[in-house]
Amino acid sequence: MKGRHLLAIHDLNAGEIESILNLAESLKKETKEGKSHEILHGKTLGMIFAKPSTRTRVSFETGMTQLGGHAIYLGMNDLQLGRGETIADTARTLSRYVDAIMARLFKHQDAEELAKHSSVPVINGLTDLHHPCQALADLMTIRERFGKLKGLNVAWVGDGNNVCVSLMEGCSLMGANFHVACPSGYEPPAEIINWAKNSAAKSGGLVEIQTEPEKAVRNADVIYTDVWVSMGQEEESKKRLEIFKKYQVNRSLIEKANPNVIVMHCLPAHRGQEITDEVIDGPHSAVWDQAENRMHAQKALLVALIKGLP
Ligand code: CP
Ligand code: NVA
Repeated sequence: MKGRHLLAIHDLNAGEIESILNLAESLKKETKEGKSHEILHGKTLGMIFAKPSTRTRVSFETGMTQLGGHAIYLGMNDLQLGRGETIADTARTLSRYVDAIMARLFKHQDAEELAKHSSVPVINGLTDLHHPCQALADLMTIRERFGKLKGLNVAWVGDGNNVCVSLMEGCSLMGANFHVACPSGYEPPAEIINWAKNSAAKSGGLVEIQTEPEKAVRNADVIYTDVWVSMGQEEESKKRLEIFKKYQVNRSLIEKANPNVIVMHCLPAHRGQEITDEVIDGPHSAVWDQAENRMHAQKALLVALIKGLP
């Protein structure tokens, strides 16, 4: 995988995802045991942020430190990009200094443009369309809890957004069944659903899109939700809060799933909107492991793209 970009989960195949998760698991174990693993000694990650972040920034930065490398935070106001330097010229320049670039941007095409002109790996740290690093951590968390991915029922309740898209791609590659419940008109893009359905047909999984949360969570091993208003959609807030009301993940919904269901959320959560306090703080919640696994999964990804998988 050395030298490749990761803009979307569909850039990977099932074997590559599995290798990343295996490495992530062993790096996690070593970290917990206090063992150091300076695999990226002397390497630098440039991190471009056009949107705010808690988890992505801190997990990438800490991850690079733990790997013996270094990360540089580049906000829009720090870069000449904010004053009109082109994405292409930014990519060409940064490539001469750093060993990989992580970017959190609005338009997915901007991430593609960055990758096109970068001679070092570009990692998508979230765009309006994809959030692949989140999906890697999510798959890691699900596998950690259930010991497998194949055959599990994952229910997505809420907006068919960037996090949904990446998890859908990941589940479809790994043979997990992905049941989406979202209001009509808020589904993931049709071409991505088609891609995921094809990919699920090959892996033995299933992708299903519907509008009823109760139906989607039937026999669910995992219930996943995310905010109803993503970054950049603030103007639609009022309308969205109304449309998504019946998509709340609360106790009555999780009681309709399997008894050992886990509840996931990429965070930040809007408590009382898409998820209740009782559920996010309750015994089914896996959200803090999920947040932690961002770091372990991304460390494995950084090693794979900068150095190559062992
Ligand atoms: N889940 C996630 O990407 O969180 P941040 O926006 O805090 O990075
Ligand atoms: N869908 C959310 C995810 C945040 C991590 C957003 O794009 O704002």
